[in-house]
Amino acid sequence: MRVAEHWKDYTLLDTMNGYRFESWGGHKVARPDPQVVWHDVQNGMSRMKNGCEGIYYRSEKGGGHWEFREGMPESWKISYGSLKFRIKPTNFKHMGLFPEQAVNWDFCQRAIREAGRPVNVLNLFAYTGGATLACAAAGASVCHVDAVKGMVSWARENAALSGLAEKPVRWIVEDAMKFVEREIKRGHRYDIIILDPPSYGRGSNGEMWKIEDCIYELMTNCMELMSDKPLFIMLNSYTTGLSPAAMEYLLHEIAYPRGREYSVSADEIGLPVAADHGRRVLPCGSTALLLFEKIDI
Ligand SMILES: C[S@@+](CC[C@H](N)C(=O)[O-])C[C@H]1O[C@@H](n2cnc3c(N)ncnc32)[C@H](O)[C@@H]1O
Repeated sequence: MRVAEHWKDYTLLDTMNGYRFESWGGHKVARPDPQVVWHDVQNGMSRMKNGCEGIYYRSEKGGGHWEFREGMPESWKISYGSLKFRIKPTNFKHMGLFPEQAVNWDFCQRAIREAGRPVNVLNLFAYTGGATLACAAAGASVCHVDAVKGMVSWARENAALSGLAEKPVRWIVEDAMKFVEREIKRGHRYDIIILDPPSYGRGSNGEMWKIEDCIYELMTNCMELMSDKPLFIMLNSYTTGLSPAAMEYLLHEIAYPRGREYSVSADEIGLPVAADHGRRVLPCGSTALLLFEKIDI
């Protein structure tokens, strides 16, 4: 597993009884995590919950709600190196950042810096901009695409907080599939493409995104968008059932017919659990890499 182990402002404190207990810049929250199938044996569950300022409860009808202690701020800021993010508990239990992605941000920054030339990045399903900020801070030009206007505004705010407002970033509110088709026609090309598609989603005009139906066509089109000196495609997924091996096969399928030299690598990504002194790492998703140059992972 590839582990995001360089956080100072975020800690995964413990995991038990279907919950993860986290500290986000000192504010402790408890959120359900279906992977946490082990139970607490020393009554730590109530102790941990009592120490939290926010707890998310799932509803049996689907969705869920937060319960906050008095004094819990509506939003606050955390840093990862020079990158700064506004954190805010959302109705969907998300906090506005996926901290395990830091292992991918580190990889992108290393690859961009080592390339030693101008690098053009396309970030699809770009959410609050973690990967966009990392790439821009490392010196790349970035095209940031998300279907939701509010998400793009949040990402722009994070860029400004990080002192990256003047960096060459194009902020686009559009359906990822449509945008890629248009970019092929426009003749734009990219050295790096990063994608973090959800299982289900909607484009900016209501276009239906369903990962199992759409991913192959999108990835095939992404291959068309690669420059003459490409670096890599990074495909991340939180979809249950889309295993690292399945993602690896998908990347071979799109790359092999092109006759270009490449290598593929896929693995789970995760967060170290502080209570276990890093012995246990919580798996949080999977990332597959299609590399066109030799880059250490
Ligand atoms: C799982 S989140 C991405 C997480 C993020 N990349 C990260 O690492 O923190 C999925 C994002 O895809 C966006 N989205 C969903 N359907 C889309 C579509 N058809 N086109 C473009 N973006 C879409 C959502 O608005 C959301 O921001």
